[in-house]
Amino acid sequence: MQVREGSYYIQNQKVTDLAAQFGTPLYVYDGEKIVQQIQQLQQAFVGIDLKIKYACKALTSISVLKLMRKHGVELDVVSPQELQIGLRAGYSGSQINFTPSGVDFEEIEFAVENGAFVNLDNLDVLEKFGQKYGSSKPCMIRIKPNVAAGGNAKIMTAHEGSKFGIDIRQQAEILALVEKYDLKIVGLHQHTGSDVKEASAFIEAASRIFEFAMAFPDLQCIDLGGGFKVAYKEGDYTTDMESFGKELSGFFQQFCERYGRKLQLWFEPGKYLVSECGYLLVRANVVKQAPGRTFVGVDSGLNHLIRPMMYDAYHHIVNASNPDASVQETYDVVGYICETDNFALGRPLSKVTAGDILVLLNAGAYGFAMSSQYNSRFRPAEVLILNGEAHLIRQRETMDDILRNQVEIDV
Ligand code: LLP
Repeated sequence: MQVREGSYYIQNQKVTDLAAQFGTPLYVYDGEKIVQQIQQLQQAFVGIDLKIKYACKALTSISVLKLMRKHGVELDVVSPQELQIGLRAGYSGSQINFTPSGVDFEEIEFAVENGAFVNLDNLDVLEKFGQKYGSSKPCMIRIKPNVAAGGNAKIMTAHEGSKFGIDIRQQAEILALVEKYDLKIVGLHQHTGSDVKEASAFIEAASRIFEFAMAFPDLQCIDLGGGFKVAYKEGDYTTDMESFGKELSGFFQQFCERYGRKLQLWFEPGKYLVSECGYLLVRANVVKQAPGRTFVGVDSGLNHLIRPMMYDAYHHIVNASNPDASVQETYDVVGYICETDNFALGRPLSKVTAGDILVLLNAGAYGFAMSSQYNSRFRPAEVLILNGEAHLIRQRETMDDILRNQVEIDV
């Protein structure tokens, strides 16, 4: 988003015009930014057979998945529903990786039937997989390397107390099952967490997986998950993809030499690809003065963007109706849900008047995807801007959507 001639623009689209045309609240995604992020990642890894598997839980809109596909990005999914959305977006099963956590074996069967790779995350499911498929189907294993990293405790996934994956210390049990059922383990997976600040955490987790991998002769890939850090506010630490790519490429090449064969390296970024492309446009319904503070109540809330409430996450906010940031006042920007759904407290913004369009940044990842119908309100519409054109990619919900699955009985 840039300010040009006194207005905010996403590509060549004026933000206030988008709000007028499509209504608010509205999710807007900048397709160009997504493509830029893809290319940055693709170029950062040198001399490596790299596959990017977009963790589509971050933003599952079919048109976004189609854009990923067009630019050579494959998919990581965590539910049969995400898998079906991926197929609908034109992916073949073999381009999709299924990384569920503690699911019923039926979901694994569904993924295998659809030709997807499955990441198995516990010994029971490995045993069931062996009983059903033996060596006839390849599979991958999710390992928990016991490395603690991530933006906050709720989004760490590789530390010892985490529910995810098979503990790296259980190698003997895994190998016993591999031998018992002649399992064809073609990949090892680990995911460190989200918003991982330290490149050293990725390197540490990778080195543990590489060591572990030496006991698995049929590997085709190592999947190091997602978790790259993007900036949510100015000055935030971010993963320096260029230097990280170089370091990890060298490290991976050394591993491949030791392993005796070149393998593919997979990553599953979510935020890195879609956080910064996304904007949530909301309207100020009310500016309420109280002693010592001013509230701005907007036409959105935790039902549309839960990250500030769930993780105390910072989302930058600008007033698109008053881009002159030279005079700022301090506001508590709050949602309209009947709960304390504060988007920001004590936030400096250019003067807000009722009716103004505010924009929350970094709303692409885990924004719409985590939205709900709480308070029986509609989920927002979504717009994707491609080559300067704004496309509606999801309609705003209506009362029919709210009532769809209710079954009324006579009481
Ligand atoms: N791979 C696996 C197996 C994952 O569980 C995740 C995210 C990713 C990849 C992608 O991680 P990313 O690159 O997006 O950090 N709702 C939280 C984030 C939860 C992440 C869950 N797993 C948030 O809004 O911060």
